[in-house]
Amino acid sequence: ARVTYVQPDGSSTTCTAEGRSLMKVAVENLVPGIIGECGGDLSCATCHVFVDETWFGKLDPRSDDEESLLDVTSEEPTSTSRLCCQITLTDAVDGIVVHVPATQR
Ligand code: FES
Repeated sequence: ARVTYVQPDGSSTTCTAEGRSLMKVAVENLVPGIIGECGGDLSCATCHVFVDETWFGKLDPRSDDEESLLDVTSEEPTSTSRLCCQITLTDAVDGIVVHVPATQR
């Protein structure tokens, strides 16, 4: 399945993977702005992304733990914010587009 990471300057990177989190796929492909410091344990908030409106509703809802961690992201969260270590790339979300925050560097 494919995922596209869009940078604040409009440039983008599309990666293909299956069954791994959007955080892991970004880190493996050296996508700037997704750090994933805690390795996906839901404790760092350095994997914050803004999910494209079209895709946000297709994802499982945020857990309570994810919800509270969104309070400490480097950039103010929006209604489509997610911690992308919690999103698994599968065919169900093939083509998903996420925007990387400018301040998460
Ligand atoms: Fe740490 Fe997602 S990688 S919360």
